[in-house]
Amino acid sequence: MKITMIGSGYVGLVSGACFADFGHDVICFDKDQTKIDALLAGRIPIFEPGLDHLVASNAAAGRLSFTTDAAQALADPDAVFIAVGTPSRRGDGHADLSYVYAAAAEIAAHIKRFTVIVDKSTVPVGTGDEVERIIRETNSDADFAVVSNPEFLREGAAIDDFKRPDRVVIGGDDPRALEVMRQIYRPLALGRSPIIEMSRKGAELTKYAGNAFLATKITFINEIADLCEKVGADVQDVARGIGLDNRIGSKFLHAGPGYGGSCFPKDTVALLKTAQDFEAPQRIVEAVVAVNDQRKRAMGRKVIAACGGDVRGKTIAVLGLTFKPNTDDMRDSPAIAIVQTLQDAGATVRAYDPEGMAQAKKDLPDIGYCASAYETMEGADALVIVTEWDAFRALDLNRAKALLKAPILVDLRNIYPRKAVEDAGFTYTAVGR
Ligand code: UDX
Repeated sequence: MKITMIGSGYVGLVSGACFADFGHDVICFDKDQTKIDALLAGRIPIFEPGLDHLVASNAAAGRLSFTTDAAQALADPDAVFIAVGTPSRRGDGHADLSYVYAAAAEIAAHIKRFTVIVDKSTVPVGTGDEVERIIRETNSDADFAVVSNPEFLREGAAIDDFKRPDRVVIGGDDPRALEVMRQIYRPLALGRSPIIEMSRKGAELTKYAGNAFLATKITFINEIADLCEKVGADVQDVARGIGLDNRIGSKFLHAGPGYGGSCFPKDTVALLKTAQDFEAPQRIVEAVVAVNDQRKRAMGRKVIAACGGDVRGKTIAVLGLTFKPNTDDMRDSPAIAIVQTLQDAGATVRAYDPEGMAQAKKDLPDIGYCASAYETMEGADALVIVTEWDAFRALDLNRAKALLKAPILVDLRNIYPRKAVEDAGFTYTAVGR
């Protein structure tokens, strides 16, 4: 199949490279010349394990190319995937669909034969209808069908998620379009991934409902963690105890500083906007959004409490800034609110993150960036783990203790066993334990 990806960001680039790896002919388009130049030179503009190799091997095999030229990208595709950003619109939190609609108009102008237009960007219910309307309005002769095919990949595990998905969701009712989509995903069907077909609106809503449910699961266990602290129970025991019930499932029950990232915060808020527009309030999701927002600063206050209630003039060493490990993404990272809470309370913050520091400098310009985990600790009054990078899981606690002014460890990701840390002479604060 000949596939064009409009947008070479996270989803576009990973999907494009994976489709090429399936044997399809893929052209990735982006308006951003710098991004395309980098890709043409073999540089990957994002940090994602394995992506550099996947892009290089498929480009070398001639199945994957990059361009800023829309006419070239849209010369003769069987399917065009719209994988552009849908950020939160400033002011009202609705998904900003201007990039999606601009892509639709651009595609329309180039359609010469039957083409499937695939919405892969996360878009609110009804966007497919609007894309269809724009294409018809721009090119009344166009032979096309619009389908929704939301993407569920996670950053840091993107390639594996794409190639071994729990399911692929395809929304649409045009038989020719569905056949093209089945061909595109044939390698996954052969690998026994369930491919489910439904209405376009059903597919659009599935993506939001899925993310909102996962955000709810995390927020639920975070509140249970708070209760565990009060009653003297361990949230990891409770999570295991409930997670082994197949109806609940053990994933996404890790208590922590609250969810962040490019998806959950934006998609939960966008779902609430849709719910408002259709007068079908989503009160559970409303609560999730509010609880998660408050949690981030509350984690900053937890650190202050661990330092004896006052951090004025103190130096706090922070390990991990990205919203989760194996990414350089800082979007809505809990680290931002945590660091700001500490700074507002008069602390000086020193931090280290294996991949996120270049991004972090934009959100958090006023912290001392260090070259290693141990450098952050030199003379610091407390050590805080905010993101669970593997590199922080086996710290030399004796060395840490020797470097720190006070042996205080706040582990906001519950990656250390309490006993080992206390045996090493630390005061240990975790989440829900
Ligand atoms: C998410 C969805 O998982 C993915 O399906 C969708 O396509 C995009 O959004 P992503 O944002 O990459 O993916 O990260 P994910 O691994 O889901 O984590 C999101 C946030 O939740 C992170 O801040 C993470 O630290 C937090 N989290 C996750 C928890 O606090 N506890 C958990 O148990 C799981």
